[in-house]
Amino acid sequence: MSDTVSAPVTSVRPNSVGAPVIIAGSPAMLDVLAIARKSAAGNAKVLITGESGVGKDVVARQIHVNSKRARGPFIAVNCAGLTETLLESELFGHVKGSFTGAYRDKRGKLAMAHGGTLFLDEVGEMSLRMQALLLRFLETGEIQSVGAHDESTQVDVRVVAATNRNLPERVAAGEFREDLLYRLRVIHIHVPPLRERREDIPLLITHLLKRAERPMEVSEDAMLLLQRYRWPGNIRELQNVMEQAMWFADREMIDVGHLPLSLRTAGDTLLPQRERRRQIADDLYDALVSGGYAFWDHIHPIFLSRDITRHDVRELVVRGLRTTHGNYRSLLKLFGIPTEDYKRFHNFLMAHGCKVDYRSFRQGTPEPSRRHQVLLPPLAAPGAAPPDPPGGTHDRRSGA
Ligand SMILES: Nc1ncnc2c1ncn2[C@@H]1O[C@H](COP(=O)(O)OP(=O)(O)OP(=O)(O)O)[C@@H](O)[C@H]1O
Ligand SMILES: [Mg+2]
Repeated sequence: MSDTVSAPVTSVRPNSVGAPVIIAGSPAMLDVLAIARKSAAGNAKVLITGESGVGKDVVARQIHVNSKRARGPFIAVNCAGLTETLLESELFGHVKGSFTGAYRDKRGKLAMAHGGTLFLDEVGEMSLRMQALLLRFLETGEIQSVGAHDESTQVDVRVVAATNRNLPERVAAGEFREDLLYRLRVIHIHVPPLRERREDIPLLITHLLKRAERPMEVSEDAMLLLQRYRWPGNIRELQNVMEQAMWFADREMIDVGHLPLSLRTAGDTLLPQRERRRQIADDLYDALVSGGYAFWDHIHPIFLSRDITRHDVRELVVRGLRTTHGNYRSLLKLFGIPTEDYKRFHNFLMAHGCKVDYRSFRQGTPEPSRRHQVLLPPLAAPGAAPPDPPGGTHDRRSGA
């Protein structure tokens, strides 16, 4: 199930703000949306918490558009990155000449948000003095421009704040006022990180793919990686990864190779099946050619005990044929198989569907086809020495 609200908001327009696009199918995110919807009905202050990029901004906009103030302005102020003086003037406004650079009177965002919602983003970054000013406003609803000496004015503003900081921890450290925290956190909405609502990942990917100029898909292996990655940057990171992958993919299919290395190497257990297979085959191959392993003594038993699959054995044969340029007799030697075991080896590969067409390895060392194999060369008559496979002869019984 997914909860989708269309018409994305790209900018804040006084008196009108569109509903943000919110893709949600996970129980955790549907809960968040339910609380947001419920909180929209009243006027209580809301504190939205969550890691960077989880969607705090979109939840704040969602609250506004569902509230009675929806026709009023939605004004966002980012409390980080502004000096204390500038933030004070941004919120409360200033009169001309009140500080260096104040060349004309300026209305504050609190006054601009009258009748609507003020979104205080990154509220955890406010200085203690600014926190005191904000607290005073929250208690009285009054504002006074910086440098103004006339009476303060009353404004009707609903405050929604957001932070990716742990505010109780900041309170304990003496960096955030406890009384302000209680004032702001009348309703608390925590937006969980993407890794705690992995059901949303494919939905978000489908949504992002629709933005591509041409129809695009994600391969099974790539999807597996995307679903298992930790996403420390959450949805914003997912957007960036998908944008880059769509750009890299020259066809309509996004595959593992189009994803950033950090995603592909995010832990061995996260490797998709094909990568895992490659790694197993590499390890077994190294063990065989170094002489530490012999095919019948080591590979055969672990295959029978199902510790490796026929796909692993096939990959191993591919590596061997690459080295011997398609020569199965040399392969026997490489794998520590006695020459008299040619027929046994052949039968084993046939019986378990591990046959690989030697012909494509005859010229240079091409990448093996992942489509199914043709066959081993024909066997010599019983008792006779096995011939090297003549090119072009192959057994069609495999159904390959
Ligand atoms: N549920 C969602 N469905 C679709 N897009 C989403 C969703 N949540 C977030 N986004 C998109 O992800 C991006 C990051 O979201 P947003 O800016 O709301 O995160 P944030 O929590 O405010 O991040 P920060 O802490 O960095 O400010 C935005 O482009 C937003 O549109
Ligand atoms: Mg934000």
